Amino acid sequence: MKKNIVVVGSGYVGTVVGACLAKLGHQVTGVDIDKKKIAKLKRGFSPIYEPGLEELIRANLYKGRLHFTTSLPDALSAAEVVFIAVGTPARADGSCDMKYVWEVAHEIGRNLDHYAVIANKSTVPVGTAGRVRKIIASYKKTNFDVVSNPEFQREGSSVKDFLGPDRIVVGADSPASRKIMREVYSKIKTPKLFIDTASAEMVKYAANAFLATKISYINEIANICEQVGADVKTVAEGVGMDRRIGYSFLDAGLGYGGSCFPKDVKALHNIALNDGYDFKLLKGVIRVNQQQRELVVKKIKRLLGKKIKGKKVAVFGLAFKNNTDDVRESASVEVIKMLKKSKLSINAYDPMAIENAKKVLGRKVRYFTSPYKTVENASLVLIATEWPEFRGLNWKRIKKLMKTGKVVDGRNLLERAEMERLGFEYEGVGR
Ligand SMILES: NC(=O)c1ccc[n+]([C@@H]2O[C@H](COP(=O)([O-])OP(=O)(O)OC[C@H]3O[C@@H](n4cnc5c(N)ncnc54)[C@H](O)[C@@H]3O)[C@@H](O)[C@H]2O)c1
Repeated sequence: MKKNIVVVGSGYVGTVVGACLAKLGHQVTGVDIDKKKIAKLKRGFSPIYEPGLEELIRANLYKGRLHFTTSLPDALSAAEVVFIAVGTPARADGSCDMKYVWEVAHEIGRNLDHYAVIANKSTVPVGTAGRVRKIIASYKKTNFDVVSNPEFQREGSSVKDFLGPDRIVVGADSPASRKIMREVYSKIKTPKLFIDTASAEMVKYAANAFLATKISYINEIANICEQVGADVKTVAEGVGMDRRIGYSFLDAGLGYGGSCFPKDVKALHNIALNDGYDFKLLKGVIRVNQQQRELVVKKIKRLLGKKIKGKKVAVFGLAFKNNTDDVRESASVEVIKMLKKSKLSINAYDPMAIENAKKVLGRKVRYFTSPYKTVENASLVLIATEWPEFRGLNWKRIKKLMKTGKVVDGRNLLERAEMERLGFEYEGVGR
């Protein structure tokens, strides 16, 4: 059944959620305090790179099912469901900064004058639904329900993931809110898990922490593989064939990054600690992830030899993963910062993320729009992001353009035998 939906926050998650809900037939209004973002969206341009998103925005703007505004009070006037999809960044101590969520809750409380379901999509600590409920109720204006509806989309395939998820989890404590949330998602055929709000909030952290653990686990296996002469790619294949384990998230390399895993793993560790529980496993996961970056930097320095000052390293990939322009907590950015400390000169190429990388790395790096220009006179190439297009590059030409043919493959994207046949000195991770 068609609903009138408001999505507060038009970032990586909110924009996708809004455009996809409009595609499902709902009337959707996307809200953001960022005027530039909203102006862009109104003209049919996506503020982020996400495959298929801009087409979806345009199609639904045209059909009159998708609108954007900077005014939450205006958007609320006809809302039946209000999704909160604002950021919950990590504080310095690893805890989750909830200020944007609280601000939105207050604004809803001040302005909502009829029953609506407030659905929280931001990743938040257990107990948030209760606190949002209290904040809105303190304005004593209307009845409402608060539900927790964690989002599992992955950047790079967010549209596909939202429309065809493995499951939809809704933490809803009242039959009325459960019914409305069922209607919101009625067109998506997937298992739907209706549970209490606290458990739903925990599902998101538990899922992300598990995936991050898988990554750190295979990275530790990779480090042992290097010592005993095994190849972690082959090992991961053999391990992943076991259906109880599966292939995904068994790619050894520079470790996880992005706006979710690092922050969510730290937040869960912090939540446990606040309740007097020392989550030792997660401590190890975080430490191993940091170590992967350090090990790759060591490898680069070793390959470059003694006098490394001023030598040029060409970095392929700045985004935290392929198919996105997001550089938040990107392993590539962290490694570049470490390499700069050793006075190396850095050239970088990324198909999508250069503009965002400039905002964090500034003039520390020379940016290129051609991979071939990036490698001119470089002593070493580092593959830092798993963009598949790096595989298809003319590596023979790259070898000729470089000063010395050294490659550190931080994502195990290339084949050692082929690279060595072309005359490269090649090192992957765990191979
Ligand atoms: N990025 C992902 O793939 C992903 C996946 C699942 C869950 N999440 C979670 O979803 C949440 C949002 O993440 P994101 O990556 O979209 O963040 P983001 O920073 O890209 O977007 C957040 C948006 O909220 C806006 N905002 C802040 N305060 C506002 C207010 N008072 N009113 C209206 N808009 C406001 C900001 O301007 C920004 O555009 C986080 O909790 C994150 O952990 C993210």
